Amino acid sequence: MAMVSVAVSYAEINIMPLPSSVKATGGTYVLRNGATVVYNNRQLRPAAGYLLEKLAPATGYNFRLAKGTRGDIRLVLSRQRNPADESYSLTVTTEGIVISSASYKGIVHGISSLRQLLPHEIESTYAVAGMTWAVPTVEIEDRPAYEWRGMMLDPVRHFYSVEETKRFLDHMALYKFSKFHWHLIDSQAWRIEIKKYPLLTEKGAWRDPESEHIDKACEKEARETGDRAMALPEAYCRTVDGKRLYGGYYSQEDIRDIVAYAAVRGIDVVPELDMPGHNHMATRCYPWLGCAHDGTDPLCIGNDSTMKFCKNVYKEVFKLFPYGYAEIGGDEVKRSKWESCPLCRERVRKEGLKDMAELQSWFTREMEKFFNKHGRRLIGWDEILEGGVSPTATVNWWQGYHKDVVQKATDGGNEVICCPTTFCYFDYAQDSTTIRNLYTNGIVPRNLTPSQKRLVKGMQANIWCEYIPSEARMQYMVFPRMLALAEKAWTADIMQNWDSFSVRLSGQTRRLDAMKINYRPLDAGYTRGFNMWNK
Ligand code: ACM
Ligand code: ZN
Repeated sequence: MAMVSVAVSYAEINIMPLPSSVKATGGTYVLRNGATVVYNNRQLRPAAGYLLEKLAPATGYNFRLAKGTRGDIRLVLSRQRNPADESYSLTVTTEGIVISSASYKGIVHGISSLRQLLPHEIESTYAVAGMTWAVPTVEIEDRPAYEWRGMMLDPVRHFYSVEETKRFLDHMALYKFSKFHWHLIDSQAWRIEIKKYPLLTEKGAWRDPESEHIDKACEKEARETGDRAMALPEAYCRTVDGKRLYGGYYSQEDIRDIVAYAAVRGIDVVPELDMPGHNHMATRCYPWLGCAHDGTDPLCIGNDSTMKFCKNVYKEVFKLFPYGYAEIGGDEVKRSKWESCPLCRERVRKEGLKDMAELQSWFTREMEKFFNKHGRRLIGWDEILEGGVSPTATVNWWQGYHKDVVQKATDGGNEVICCPTTFCYFDYAQDSTTIRNLYTNGIVPRNLTPSQKRLVKGMQANIWCEYIPSEARMQYMVFPRMLALAEKAWTADIMQNWDSFSVRLSGQTRRLDAMKINYRPLDAGYTRGFNMWNK
C-alpha cells in the first residue's frame, strides 16, 4: 500500500530518504505570514526554534511561537515517550500541520520531511519574492530501518571551522542522519583542546604545509588546475616567525557549541581520538608518549604514564560529549615498533600475552573498562577484533576487502556499524557508476542470520580529508552520494528501488542548489579522488 501511494504522488512529493508510508490526500495547505507554531512540551522548544530558523528566512514571514496545542503548525510529543523511537507522523490538512512522535528526534525528522514538502526555495537564506508556500496535504507514517545513520568527518588532515561543521550538520539533519562521528586527532594534527596537555593544540594543531605531502599535493593540484577548492583556505593559514603555518583547533567551548547545535538537529556527536596508532602529532608534542621518545608513532602502551595520558584525555572528552558511545580508533597500528620496546615487551610478558596483536587487545580492553566506568560504550575500527576483543565493544567494519568481518564480529556478540571501503569511503574517486553501486549493493552483507542482523546497528560513510582541503571540495566528494546512503540507512530494504531513487535524486538537486551545496553534477565524468592519487 505504502509503495503504491508514494508512486502515485512522487511527481510532486519527493522526500528523501523515502518514508515508510506517504498518502497524498489531494489538497493544499498554504503557509502564511503570522502563522503560529506551537509545541505541547517544553522539551520541544529547541525543535520549534529550529523549524522557524528554517522557515523564516526564505518566506520572510513573522511566525508566532508558543507552548500550546492549538496553532497552524503543531509539534506534539506523544504521551508514551521513548527517546529511542525515532518514528514520527506528519499530517498536513488544508487547516494545518501536525508532527507527532514519541521522541525529540522523531519530531526533527518530521520537520525534515515538512521542509521537503515545501518548494525547494524554502532552503534559501534570503526572502524569495512571489512564492506561494504551498504544502500538499498528506498523511505520512515513517520510521528508520537503522538506528546508526552516520557520517564521519576528518578535520585533522584538513580543517573545517565551527561554522563549516555546523553547515555539514544542517545538511545531515535534512537527510535524517543520526550520528556525527568526528575524527578529532591523527598523525597530522591534534584538533581538540585538552586542558591537561596544552601543547597538543598550542603546537599540535599547526603544521608547516611545505613539509606535509598531503598539503603539497593539494596545493599543486590547485595551481595546475586552477581549482580553488583544492587550495588550503587562507583563513586557516597564519605566519609565525616568518613561517606559514596551516591549522586550527576546536576549543572546549567550540565543542560544546557544536554538540549542542547537533543535538537540536537530532544528531549525536561521537568523538574519536584515535589510539594507539595514528598518533604522530601527540608523540611530537610529548615525546615520552612514544616507545623511543623520538616523536614517532604509535603510543607506547607498555608505559604506565602513556596509559594515564590516554585516560586523562578521554576523561576530558567524556565531559564534552554526553552520548553513550565514544570511539577509540585502533586502526593501522604499526605494532612492530612495540617489538623493540623494553616497556612494551615487559607488558606482554607480565600480562601473559602471546604477541603484539594481543598487546593491542589488552589496551582496548583497558580503555573499554575505563569507558564503561564513565558510562560509555567503546567503538573501534575492525582491527580491534585482531588479538581478541571483548563482546561488549562495537566494531566499525571499514576493511571492505575483509568480507567476513561482520559475520565474525556478530558471531562473537559484537555490534557492528558498516562503513566498508567498497562503497562508504567518500574520499574515493567517483564515476558514473558510484552512486548506483552504493545504492544497489547491500552495504550490510546479505548473508547474515537473524541474530547476526540484530547486531548490525547501521551504516556510515567516512570522509577522510587528506585530499579534501576545503568545504567546497568536501561537498563535491560527498554530495549527492550522501543521499543514497541516507536512503540505505533509513528506508526499508524492500522499498529501495534504484529507478525510483535516481528520478527522485534528480529532483533533489534543485534543493541542493537552493542550499548552495557544491555537489558533483549527476552527469559528471570521472572525478579524481584519494585512491587515484595514491597510485
Ligand atoms: C581507516 O580507514 N583507517 C579506518
Ligand atoms: Zn613501547
